[in-house]
Amino acid sequence: MDVPSYCGVECMKILGIETSCDETAVCLIEACGTFEQNFSFKVFGNALLSQVAVHAPYGGVFPNLAKREHSRNLVPLLARVFQQSRVPRGSTSGIDTDGLRDILEREPELCTQLEMFLATHGKPDIDAIAVTHGPGLEPALWVGVNFARALSTVWNVPIVPVNHLEGHIAMAIVSNPDTSLYNEVSGLRIKESGFPAIALLISGGHTELDLVREWPHFETLGETRDDAVGEAFDKVARMMGLPYPGGPQISALAETARNTYRGPYSVSLPRPMLHEKNFDFSFSGLKTAVLRLVKDKTLSEDEKMALAREFEEAATDVLVHKTVRAVEEYGAQTVLVGGGVSANAHVKRELKKALDNAGAQLLVPPPEWATDNALMIALVGYFHALNNEFIEAATLRANGNLKLGRN
Ligand code: KG4
Ligand code: ZN
Repeated sequence: MDVPSYCGVECMKILGIETSCDETAVCLIEACGTFEQNFSFKVFGNALLSQVAVHAPYGGVFPNLAKREHSRNLVPLLARVFQQSRVPRGSTSGIDTDGLRDILEREPELCTQLEMFLATHGKPDIDAIAVTHGPGLEPALWVGVNFARALSTVWNVPIVPVNHLEGHIAMAIVSNPDTSLYNEVSGLRIKESGFPAIALLISGGHTELDLVREWPHFETLGETRDDAVGEAFDKVARMMGLPYPGGPQISALAETARNTYRGPYSVSLPRPMLHEKNFDFSFSGLKTAVLRLVKDKTLSEDEKMALAREFEEAATDVLVHKTVRAVEEYGAQTVLVGGGVSANAHVKRELKKALDNAGAQLLVPPPEWATDNALMIALVGYFHALNNEFIEAATLRANGNLKLGRN
């Protein structure tokens, strides 16, 4: 593909699509430069619909319900992004929707909505479509993948597949203008001197540490052997009668406990695998320890506060300890944190303290970009599009178990 170039700097407009879990998101950006030089980007349009309220009564995400919601939401979100981006309602002549029904055979509602949309909207001025193809809930992923395949076919625009986890980690780098990874004079320039880095991924589906010698090459050092840390937050919250998603709930209670609660109730929980000489995690034992404490009991508000605090501190101790060990072992200069749990204030404070001592800088996305979104997918898509990593629409597949660094 010919990459457009302005003033000697390569630029591309990328449409990002994210449907891996319970957020449906679409984003349109223009990014310029390379990861090493003169990188900058603009967000033209960004729209997201959360399904939290739909899944809350079940205490977790229901894959087939997520699939249905994504199918309903994608076209309205695309329309909103077009509006925000002021994409002109160009000519619809030459847009051939013949193949649409085959591609969207399993998403009839999405197909009907898209046909109506394409009847009134012309082809936008974009260079590529970036879509999450894994990891995540496979029925949910397929909706985004098929939507991208449909748009790619009717608009004749190439697709670049994106690993959701790489997206989360990228948000730590690009959304922190106030760090030494940027040279603000020439936009958002990312310095190579921040590498090697350690990536800590902490979300509802993943907990892992990766070595990033250079962007975007990931070597997985360790991962959870059972529950992800966000999943543990959610399950513990549920045991305590708190609504889904439980992470922010536990965090709010724990912060209140730290600020106001002075006893007498106290509790002590294990720090699983803290001293094991590897980079793996395990959170199911911690969760079971909480279950033993709450089973057949009605907790008082004081008890809930103390328990939330101790759970958060136990999980944080393990995350911080293993991250610092990875930093020391690999001489990392930077720690890039990604995933929903990176919004947790206690985790951030403790990581910052420990990494200041270890002489490494901490990069965390601001909370509004910590959870799932399509900007991260568009950005990572841009870096891969620069390397011509496009894929034929017909061969693109969703992969619920996609790994970082082993794609
Ligand atoms: O990255 P994300 O939006 O989705 C996945 O890819 O999994 O992460 C969602 C997870 C949920 O488990 C949620 O409870 C957790 O992130 N989470 C938090 C906080 N905010 C979101 N966990 C702890 N503290 C928070 N403040
Ligand atoms: Zn995520």
